[in-house]
Amino acid sequence: MTPQTEKRTLRRAYYQRFTAAQRFEHLVLLLSFTVLALTGLPQKYADQAWAQSLIAALGGIESVRIVHRVMAVLLMAEAIYHGGVLSYKLYVLGVRPIMLPTLRDARDVWDWARYNVGLRREHPRLPRYNFGEKVEYLAVVWGTIIMVITGFMLWNPIAATKLLPGAWIPAARAAHGAEALLAVLSILIWHSYNVHIKRLNKSMFLGTLSAEEMREEHAEELERIERGEAEPTPPPHVVAQRKRVFWPYAVLMSALLVSALVWFVTFEESAITTVPRLAVRETTLSVDAEAVGVAAEGEALWSRLPCSGCHGERAQGREGLNVPLAGLELDFADFVAQVRRGPADMPAFPPEQLSDTELAHLWTWLRSLPAP
Ligand code: HEC
Repeated sequence: MTPQTEKRTLRRAYYQRFTAAQRFEHLVLLLSFTVLALTGLPQKYADQAWAQSLIAALGGIESVRIVHRVMAVLLMAEAIYHGGVLSYKLYVLGVRPIMLPTLRDARDVWDWARYNVGLRREHPRLPRYNFGEKVEYLAVVWGTIIMVITGFMLWNPIAATKLLPGAWIPAARAAHGAEALLAVLSILIWHSYNVHIKRLNKSMFLGTLSAEEMREEHAEELERIERGEAEPTPPPHVVAQRKRVFWPYAVLMSALLVSALVWFVTFEESAITTVPRLAVRETTLSVDAEAVGVAAEGEALWSRLPCSGCHGERAQGREGLNVPLAGLELDFADFVAQVRRGPADMPAFPPEQLSDTELAHLWTWLRSLPAP
């Protein structure tokens, strides 16, 4: 190495890897993911002592629920922003979709595996984003999509059962919890290993990687930078023209997505209960059901209420979610308690939504039906 080249290497000992905006996105993801996991997992494992202590430490189930939702909104807002940035890069700047897997990644995996077991002398020369990073990125995208869809179903179970069979609600709950566990484990094992244990990689916080790190993990990218090659960019007039198309579209899409987000959050009050609500105490009944209940009124109510989506058109139960209520044997107090509390996978119906008198009608009708 001549003194000049040595000097050049020293001057360029650090290579820009992430912009400030990208690092900020990562911080938002770090915060929302961690808090979502801390408030979500104890709800998944609510019957276990550690989960109960954690819920208590976080201020009780009601505040855990609210914090979980606030963080979900933050994550969704971040996803919308990320979609905007991505569209800008792909469309306006004409950047190649470098996070998508290619055949070349398959070859890199193969070479890398052979290198690791000693069948190959050199570490493969990896591009800007190597196969492992692509898998991780795409897993975040995929995981977020799953969590948003299933989260919507748990947050708005009544709306969801208007479109889908009631059995999808417990299925959504299982998927939401399983995907969460998968994500947390992959962060703890895979992500931690790659960026903290194998070598403490601070690029996501400081923005840069050292030459040595670049050589090992992104040798091809390093050579490209050293050759002074820049990614081809479209000429300024093309960029200007594309921006004129992009901005109206971006504003429209953001407005639509943000409205969808608001709709998502405010749609209904009766999210699924994972842990029985503290707010539901022993219900004091305001009516004498035997005296007030009218079966015909109950039948009419049933056709208007969301109950049939899960319990069947005539309360005979539904395929996949077999909870028939026809021929009900519960006494009125227990019936009211169930409906007000919302047992597992059923939304709770507070008195503002369904009065005791209405429940008396429903109860009378359900009891009059033949058991299936
Ligand atoms: C999103 C689906 C869903 C909706 C909507 C729904 N339920 Fe349920 N309901 C369930 C599930 C699931 C169970 C069984 C819970 C369990 O396993 O403890 C249940 C249980 C019940 C029970 C307890 C049954 C028993 O034998 O212990 C009653 C009573 C009940 N529902 C009434 C209603 C009424 C009344 C409505 C409408 C106001 C309604 N449900 C709406 C899903 C639903």
